[in-house]
Amino acid sequence: MRWSVAFVLPLLPLSVLAGKFHESSLRSRHAGHARIIKARNNTGASKFTLTDMYTGESFLDDWDFFSGEDPTHGNVNYLTKEDAIGKALAFVQADGTTVLKVDDFSNVAEGGNRDSVRISTKKTYNGGLFIADFWSMPHGCSVWPAYWSVGPNWPAAGEIDVLEGVHEQEANQYTLHTSAGCEIGATFERNSALSTILNDQCASSGADNRGCGFRDPDFQTYGHAFNLLAGGVFAHLWDNSGIKIWRFLRPSIPADITAKTPDPSTWGTPAAFFPATNCDMASHFFDHSLVLDTTICGDFGGPTYAGSGCPGTCAQAVANATNFKFATWQINYIAVYDPSH
Ligand SMILES: *[C@@H]1O[C@H](CO)[C@@H](O)[C@H](O)[C@H]1NC(C)=O
Ligand SMILES: *[C@@H]1O[C@H](CO)[C@@H](O)[C@H](O)[C@H]1NC(C)=O
Repeated sequence: MRWSVAFVLPLLPLSVLAGKFHESSLRSRHAGHARIIKARNNTGASKFTLTDMYTGESFLDDWDFFSGEDPTHGNVNYLTKEDAIGKALAFVQADGTTVLKVDDFSNVAEGGNRDSVRISTKKTYNGGLFIADFWSMPHGCSVWPAYWSVGPNWPAAGEIDVLEGVHEQEANQYTLHTSAGCEIGATFERNSALSTILNDQCASSGADNRGCGFRDPDFQTYGHAFNLLAGGVFAHLWDNSGIKIWRFLRPSIPADITAKTPDPSTWGTPAAFFPATNCDMASHFFDHSLVLDTTICGDFGGPTYAGSGCPGTCAQAVANATNFKFATWQINYIAVYDPSH
Protein backbone atom coordinates (compact mmCIF):
# COMPACT_ATOMS: atom_id res chain seq x y z
CA MET A 1 0.00 0.00 0.00
CA ARG A 2 2.91 2.33 0.42
CA TRP A 3 3.45 3.91 -2.88
CA SER A 4 5.48 6.40 -4.83
CA VAL A 5 5.06 8.28 -8.09
CA ALA A 6 7.68 6.15 -9.87
CA PHE A 7 5.12 3.36 -10.16
CA VAL A 8 2.60 5.25 -12.28
CA LEU A 9 1.22 3.06 -15.04
CA PRO A 10 -0.21 4.00 -18.38
CA LEU A 11 -3.88 4.40 -17.65
CA LEU A 12 -6.92 3.12 -19.43
CA PRO A 13 -8.74 5.57 -21.69
CA LEU A 14 -12.15 6.12 -20.22
CA SER A 15 -13.73 5.36 -23.57
CA VAL A 16 -13.18 1.67 -22.80
CA LEU A 17 -15.76 1.99 -20.07
CA ALA A 18 -18.36 3.00 -22.58
CA GLY A 19 -18.22 -0.50 -24.09
CA LYS A 20 -21.27 -2.69 -24.18
CA PHE A 21 -20.19 -5.02 -21.39
CA HIS A 22 -21.37 -4.28 -17.90
CA GLU A 23 -19.89 -5.86 -14.84
CA SER A 24 -23.17 -5.88 -12.97
CA SER A 25 -24.41 -8.53 -15.41
CA LEU A 26 -21.71 -10.86 -14.11
CA ARG A 27 -23.29 -11.12 -10.72
CA SER A 28 -25.98 -13.50 -11.84
CA ARG A 29 -23.33 -15.63 -13.53
CA HIS A 30 -21.47 -15.92 -10.26
CA ALA A 31 -24.40 -17.18 -8.34
CA GLY A 32 -24.70 -20.49 -10.14
CA HIS A 33 -21.05 -21.37 -9.80
CA ALA A 34 -19.83 -20.38 -6.37
CA ARG A 35 -20.12 -22.79 -3.53
CA ILE A 36 -18.96 -22.66 0.02
CA ILE A 37 -15.87 -24.80 0.13
CA LYS A 38 -15.08 -26.39 3.44
CA ALA A 39 -11.56 -27.07 4.63
CA ARG A 40 -10.59 -30.67 4.14
CA ASN A 41 -7.43 -32.74 4.26
CA ASN A 42 -5.37 -32.92 1.13
CA THR A 43 -5.19 -35.98 -0.99
CA GLY A 44 -3.07 -36.70 -4.03
CA ALA A 45 0.26 -35.17 -4.96
CA SER A 46 0.03 -31.82 -3.17
CA LYS A 47 2.69 -31.24 -0.56
CA PHE A 48 0.66 -28.41 0.89
CA THR A 49 -1.71 -28.71 3.82
CA LEU A 50 -4.73 -26.45 3.98
CA THR A 51 -4.61 -24.53 7.26
CA ASP A 52 -7.11 -21.70 6.77
CA MET A 53 -10.06 -21.25 4.45
CA TYR A 54 -11.59 -17.80 4.49
CA THR A 55 -14.95 -18.09 2.77
CA GLY A 56 -18.67 -18.07 3.32
CA GLU A 57 -20.59 -17.23 6.47
CA SER A 58 -17.61 -17.15 8.83
CA PHE A 59 -15.41 -14.92 6.63
CA LEU A 60 -16.09 -11.68 8.49
CA ASP A 61 -15.53 -13.32 11.90
CA ASP A 62 -11.92 -14.12 11.02
CA TRP A 63 -10.86 -10.57 10.09
CA ASP A 64 -10.53 -7.41 12.16
CA PHE A 65 -12.07 -4.19 10.89
CA PHE A 66 -9.64 -1.27 11.02
CA SER A 67 -11.53 1.93 11.81
CA GLY A 68 -8.75 4.43 12.45
CA GLU A 69 -7.59 7.22 10.17
CA ASP A 70 -6.25 5.88 6.87
CA PRO A 71 -2.44 5.59 7.25
CA THR A 72 -2.17 6.27 3.48
CA HIS A 73 -4.11 9.55 3.78
CA GLY A 74 -7.09 8.57 1.66
CA ASN A 75 -10.51 10.27 1.63
CA VAL A 76 -12.20 7.45 3.53
CA ASN A 77 -13.91 6.73 6.82
CA TYR A 78 -12.99 3.14 7.57
CA LEU A 79 -16.00 1.66 9.33
CA THR A 80 -16.19 -0.59 12.35
CA LYS A 81 -17.57 -4.06 11.71
CA GLU A 82 -20.94 -3.09 13.14
CA ASP A 83 -21.21 0.02 10.96
CA ALA A 84 -19.92 -1.72 7.83
CA ILE A 85 -22.49 -4.47 8.17
CA GLY A 86 -25.20 -1.98 9.16
CA LYS A 87 -24.59 0.07 6.00
CA ALA A 88 -24.29 -3.05 3.83
CA LEU A 89 -20.70 -2.26 2.90
CA ALA A 90 -19.56 -5.67 4.19
CA PHE A 91 -21.65 -8.82 3.87
CA VAL A 92 -21.60 -12.45 2.81
CA GLN A 93 -23.95 -13.55 0.03
CA ALA A 94 -25.97 -16.74 0.12
CA ASP A 95 -23.52 -18.26 -2.40
CA GLY A 96 -20.63 -17.74 0.04
CA THR A 97 -19.13 -14.70 -1.71
CA THR A 98 -17.87 -12.00 0.65
CA VAL A 99 -18.58 -8.46 -0.56
CA LEU A 100 -16.66 -5.35 0.58
CA LYS A 101 -17.83 -2.05 -0.87
CA VAL A 102 -17.24 1.67 -0.88
CA ASP A 103 -20.34 3.80 -0.24
CA ASP A 104 -21.72 4.58 -3.71
CA PHE A 105 -25.03 6.09 -2.59
CA SER A 106 -24.27 8.98 -0.19
CA ASN A 107 -23.61 12.61 -0.96
CA VAL A 108 -20.10 13.55 0.12
CA ALA A 109 -18.61 17.04 -0.11
CA GLU A 110 -15.70 17.73 -2.45
CA GLY A 111 -12.55 16.63 -0.65
CA GLY A 112 -14.64 14.90 2.03
CA ASN A 113 -14.40 11.33 3.27
CA ARG A 114 -16.49 8.44 1.95
CA ASP A 115 -17.29 5.29 3.95
CA SER A 116 -15.17 2.25 3.12
CA VAL A 117 -13.77 -0.94 4.65
CA ARG A 118 -10.29 -2.14 5.59
CA ILE A 119 -9.93 -5.58 7.15
CA SER A 120 -7.01 -7.78 8.22
CA THR A 121 -6.77 -11.39 9.36
CA LYS A 122 -6.74 -12.05 13.08
CA LYS A 123 -4.27 -14.84 12.38
CA THR A 124 -0.68 -13.94 11.44
CA TYR A 125 1.70 -15.82 9.13
CA ASN A 126 5.41 -16.44 8.73
CA GLY A 127 5.22 -17.94 5.27
CA GLY A 128 2.88 -20.17 3.34
CA LEU A 129 1.03 -20.61 0.08
CA PHE A 130 -1.79 -18.08 -0.18
CA ILE A 131 -4.50 -18.47 -2.81
CA ALA A 132 -7.01 -15.66 -3.26
CA ASP A 133 -9.96 -16.11 -5.62
CA PHE A 134 -11.76 -12.86 -6.50
CA TRP A 135 -14.91 -12.63 -8.63
CA SER A 136 -14.26 -8.93 -8.94
CA MET A 137 -12.02 -6.19 -7.56
CA PRO A 138 -12.60 -2.46 -7.03
CA HIS A 139 -11.72 0.10 -9.68
CA GLY A 140 -12.80 3.57 -10.76
CA CYS A 141 -11.61 7.16 -10.82
CA SER A 142 -9.87 7.94 -7.47
CA VAL A 143 -10.27 4.30 -6.27
CA TRP A 144 -7.15 2.63 -4.79
CA PRO A 145 -7.70 -0.99 -3.71
CA ALA A 146 -5.14 -3.48 -2.43
CA TYR A 147 -4.83 -7.10 -1.35
CA TRP A 148 -1.63 -7.34 0.65
CA SER A 149 0.04 -8.49 3.85
CA VAL A 150 2.07 -6.65 6.43
CA GLY A 151 3.86 -7.24 9.73
CA PRO A 152 4.26 -4.99 12.78
CA ASN A 153 6.34 -1.81 12.96
CA TRP A 154 6.49 -0.97 9.24
CA PRO A 155 8.78 -1.58 7.41
CA ALA A 156 10.64 -3.78 9.94
CA ALA A 157 8.50 -6.87 9.38
CA GLY A 158 7.94 -6.27 5.67
CA GLU A 159 5.00 -5.82 3.35
CA ILE A 160 3.88 -7.92 0.37
CA ASP A 161 1.55 -6.18 -2.12
CA VAL A 162 -0.06 -8.89 -4.23
CA LEU A 163 -2.82 -6.95 -6.03
CA GLU A 164 -2.77 -3.18 -6.17
CA GLY A 165 -3.46 -0.26 -8.45
CA VAL A 166 -5.42 2.93 -8.87
CA HIS A 167 -8.08 4.61 -11.06
CA GLU A 168 -8.73 2.67 -14.30
CA GLN A 169 -5.30 1.03 -14.42
CA GLU A 170 -5.23 -2.17 -16.51
CA ALA A 171 -2.19 -4.11 -15.27
CA ASN A 172 -1.41 -5.20 -11.74
CA GLN A 173 1.75 -4.31 -9.84
CA TYR A 174 3.55 -6.52 -7.31
CA THR A 175 5.64 -4.84 -4.63
CA LEU A 176 7.66 -5.60 -1.50
CA HIS A 177 8.62 -3.12 1.20
CA THR A 178 11.30 -4.03 3.73
CA SER A 179 13.86 -2.69 6.14
CA ALA A 180 17.43 -2.15 4.84
CA GLY A 181 19.32 -5.03 3.24
CA CYS A 182 16.83 -6.54 0.80
CA GLU A 183 16.87 -6.25 -2.99
CA ILE A 184 15.92 -8.25 -6.06
CA GLY A 185 19.65 -8.31 -6.91
CA ALA A 186 21.92 -8.26 -9.96
CA THR A 187 21.81 -12.05 -10.39
CA PHE A 188 18.06 -11.96 -11.08
CA GLU A 189 17.26 -13.83 -14.28
CA ARG A 190 14.83 -11.93 -16.46
CA ASN A 191 13.01 -15.04 -17.61
CA SER A 192 12.25 -16.17 -14.05
CA ALA A 193 9.21 -13.84 -13.98
CA LEU A 194 6.66 -12.73 -16.60
CA SER A 195 6.63 -9.13 -15.38
CA THR A 196 9.02 -6.24 -15.78
CA ILE A 197 11.04 -4.97 -12.82
CA LEU A 198 10.10 -1.41 -11.86
CA ASN A 199 12.63 -1.02 -9.06
CA ASP A 200 14.90 -3.57 -7.41
CA GLN A 201 15.51 -2.01 -3.98
CA CYS A 202 12.98 -3.33 -1.47
CA ALA A 203 14.21 -1.21 1.45
CA SER A 204 11.62 1.48 2.13
CA SER A 205 11.61 4.55 4.31
CA GLY A 206 9.85 7.88 4.52
CA ALA A 207 12.35 9.30 2.02
CA ASP A 208 11.92 6.56 -0.59
CA ASN A 209 9.07 4.15 -0.14
CA ARG A 210 8.82 2.80 -3.67
CA GLY A 211 9.90 -0.68 -2.58
CA CYS A 212 10.90 -3.29 -5.13
CA GLY A 213 8.31 -4.26 -7.66
CA PHE A 214 7.09 -5.62 -10.95
CA ARG A 215 4.50 -4.46 -13.47
CA ASP A 216 2.41 -7.18 -15.09
CA PRO A 217 2.48 -7.13 -18.93
CA ASP A 218 -1.07 -8.55 -19.10
CA PHE A 219 -3.75 -5.86 -19.34
CA GLN A 220 -6.42 -8.11 -17.83
CA THR A 221 -4.78 -8.49 -14.45
CA TYR A 222 -6.45 -5.49 -12.83
CA GLY A 223 -9.76 -3.62 -12.69
CA HIS A 224 -12.39 -3.51 -15.43
CA ALA A 225 -10.96 -6.17 -17.79
CA PHE A 226 -10.19 -8.52 -14.88
CA ASN A 227 -13.77 -8.20 -13.67
CA LEU A 228 -15.24 -8.83 -17.14
CA LEU A 229 -13.69 -12.31 -16.99
CA ALA A 230 -15.27 -12.84 -13.55
CA GLY A 231 -11.86 -12.23 -12.01
CA GLY A 232 -9.46 -14.99 -11.16
CA VAL A 233 -6.85 -16.20 -8.72
CA PHE A 234 -3.76 -14.58 -7.24
CA ALA A 235 -1.51 -17.19 -5.63
CA HIS A 236 1.70 -16.43 -3.77
CA LEU A 237 4.24 -18.75 -2.25
CA TRP A 238 6.31 -17.23 0.53
CA ASP A 239 9.09 -19.46 1.86
CA ASN A 240 12.82 -19.31 2.59
CA SER A 241 13.67 -19.21 -1.12
CA GLY A 242 11.71 -16.00 -1.70
CA ILE A 243 8.26 -14.94 -2.85
CA LYS A 244 6.64 -16.08 -6.10
CA ILE A 245 3.32 -14.67 -7.27
CA TRP A 246 1.14 -16.25 -9.97
CA ARG A 247 -2.14 -14.94 -11.37
CA PHE A 248 -4.69 -16.91 -13.32
CA LEU A 249 -7.73 -15.38 -14.97
CA ARG A 250 -11.00 -17.24 -14.39
CA PRO A 251 -10.91 -19.32 -17.61
CA SER A 252 -7.40 -20.64 -16.88
CA ILE A 253 -7.32 -21.45 -13.18
CA PRO A 254 -5.31 -24.69 -12.79
CA ALA A 255 -7.39 -27.71 -11.77
CA ASP A 256 -5.19 -28.43 -8.74
CA ILE A 257 -6.08 -24.99 -7.32
CA THR A 258 -9.79 -25.65 -7.76
CA ALA A 259 -9.37 -29.14 -6.26
CA LYS A 260 -7.62 -27.64 -3.20
CA THR A 261 -4.51 -29.73 -3.87
CA PRO A 262 -2.24 -26.97 -5.15
CA ASP A 263 1.10 -27.84 -6.71
CA PRO A 264 2.94 -24.62 -7.67
CA SER A 265 5.66 -26.64 -9.42
CA THR A 266 3.13 -27.20 -12.24
CA TRP A 267 2.07 -23.56 -12.66
CA GLY A 268 4.87 -22.33 -14.89
CA THR A 269 6.73 -19.03 -14.66
CA PRO A 270 5.29 -16.75 -11.95
CA ALA A 271 4.14 -13.23 -12.77
CA ALA A 272 6.57 -11.91 -10.16
CA PHE A 273 9.51 -13.51 -8.36
CA PHE A 274 11.42 -11.99 -5.47
CA PRO A 275 14.31 -14.40 -4.85
CA ALA A 276 15.98 -14.69 -1.45
CA THR A 277 19.47 -14.45 -2.97
CA ASN A 278 19.85 -10.83 -1.83
CA CYS A 279 17.19 -10.82 0.87
CA ASP A 280 17.05 -12.97 3.99
CA MET A 281 13.38 -13.85 4.18
CA ALA A 282 13.07 -14.69 7.89
CA SER A 283 14.53 -11.38 9.10
CA HIS A 284 12.64 -9.20 6.59
CA PHE A 285 9.18 -10.80 6.62
CA PHE A 286 7.38 -11.98 9.75
CA ASP A 287 4.06 -11.99 11.59
CA HIS A 288 1.99 -10.88 8.60
CA SER A 289 -1.74 -10.33 8.57
CA LEU A 290 -3.48 -10.44 5.21
CA VAL A 291 -5.22 -7.14 4.42
CA LEU A 292 -7.99 -6.10 2.03
CA ASP A 293 -8.92 -2.46 1.65
CA THR A 294 -10.20 0.18 -0.70
CA THR A 295 -9.17 3.76 -0.18
CA ILE A 296 -9.76 6.90 -2.24
CA CYS A 297 -7.16 9.40 -3.54
CA GLY A 298 -4.49 9.36 -0.79
CA ASP A 299 -0.75 8.85 -1.28
CA PHE A 300 -1.24 6.90 -4.53
CA GLY A 301 -4.54 8.11 -5.99
CA GLY A 302 -3.91 11.80 -5.31
CA PRO A 303 -0.60 12.37 -7.14
CA THR A 304 -1.59 10.13 -10.09
CA TYR A 305 -5.05 11.60 -10.63
CA ALA A 306 -4.08 14.33 -13.12
CA GLY A 307 -2.54 11.75 -15.48
CA SER A 308 -5.31 9.19 -15.12
CA GLY A 309 -7.71 10.36 -17.81
CA CYS A 310 -10.38 10.92 -15.15
CA PRO A 311 -12.30 14.23 -15.14
CA GLY A 312 -11.69 17.11 -12.72
CA THR A 313 -9.69 16.63 -9.55
CA CYS A 314 -9.44 13.76 -7.11
CA ALA A 315 -11.22 15.88 -4.46
CA GLN A 316 -14.13 16.30 -6.92
CA ALA A 317 -14.13 12.59 -7.74
CA VAL A 318 -14.80 11.73 -4.07
CA ALA A 319 -18.02 13.76 -4.24
CA ASN A 320 -19.33 11.89 -7.29
CA ALA A 321 -20.93 8.67 -6.05
CA THR A 322 -20.99 7.21 -9.58
CA ASN A 323 -17.22 6.73 -9.41
CA PHE A 324 -17.70 4.06 -6.73
CA LYS A 325 -20.23 1.90 -8.52
CA PHE A 326 -17.51 -0.70 -9.20
CA ALA A 327 -15.42 -0.09 -6.08
CA THR A 328 -16.30 -3.57 -4.84
CA TRP A 329 -14.40 -6.68 -3.78
CA GLN A 330 -16.27 -9.91 -4.42
CA ILE A 331 -14.21 -12.59 -2.72
CA ASN A 332 -14.86 -16.23 -3.51
CA TYR A 333 -12.29 -17.46 -0.99
CA ILE A 334 -8.79 -16.96 0.36
CA ALA A 335 -7.05 -20.24 1.22
CA VAL A 336 -3.79 -20.59 3.15
CA TYR A 337 -1.66 -23.70 2.84
CA ASP A 338 1.30 -24.75 4.95
CA PRO A 339 4.18 -25.72 2.63
CA SER A 340 5.68 -28.22 5.07
CA HIS A 341 5.53 -31.81 3.83
C1 LIG B 1 -7.22 -34.24 8.85
O1 LIG B 1 -6.46 -35.34 9.26
C2 LIG B 1 -6.16 -35.34 10.65
C3 LIG B 1 -5.21 -36.49 10.94
O2 LIG B 1 -5.50 -37.63 10.17
C4 LIG B 1 -7.47 -35.41 11.45
O3 LIG B 1 -7.21 -35.39 12.84
C5 LIG B 1 -8.33 -34.22 11.07
O4 LIG B 1 -9.57 -34.30 11.74
C6 LIG B 1 -8.56 -34.16 9.58
N1 LIG B 1 -9.24 -32.91 9.24
C7 LIG B 1 -10.28 -32.85 8.44
C8 LIG B 1 -10.82 -31.48 8.20
O5 LIG B 1 -10.77 -33.84 7.91
C1 LIG C 1 -19.42 11.35 -12.17
O1 LIG C 1 -18.64 10.18 -12.44
C2 LIG C 1 -19.05 9.52 -13.62
C3 LIG C 1 -18.23 8.23 -13.70
O2 LIG C 1 -16.85 8.49 -13.65
C4 LIG C 1 -18.88 10.42 -14.82
O3 LIG C 1 -19.32 9.73 -15.99
C5 LIG C 1 -19.68 11.68 -14.62
O4 LIG C 1 -19.40 12.58 -15.68
C6 LIG C 1 -19.30 12.35 -13.30
N1 LIG C 1 -20.17 13.48 -13.05
C7 LIG C 1 -19.72 14.69 -12.74
C8 LIG C 1 -20.73 15.74 -12.48
O5 LIG C 1 -18.50 14.94 -12.70
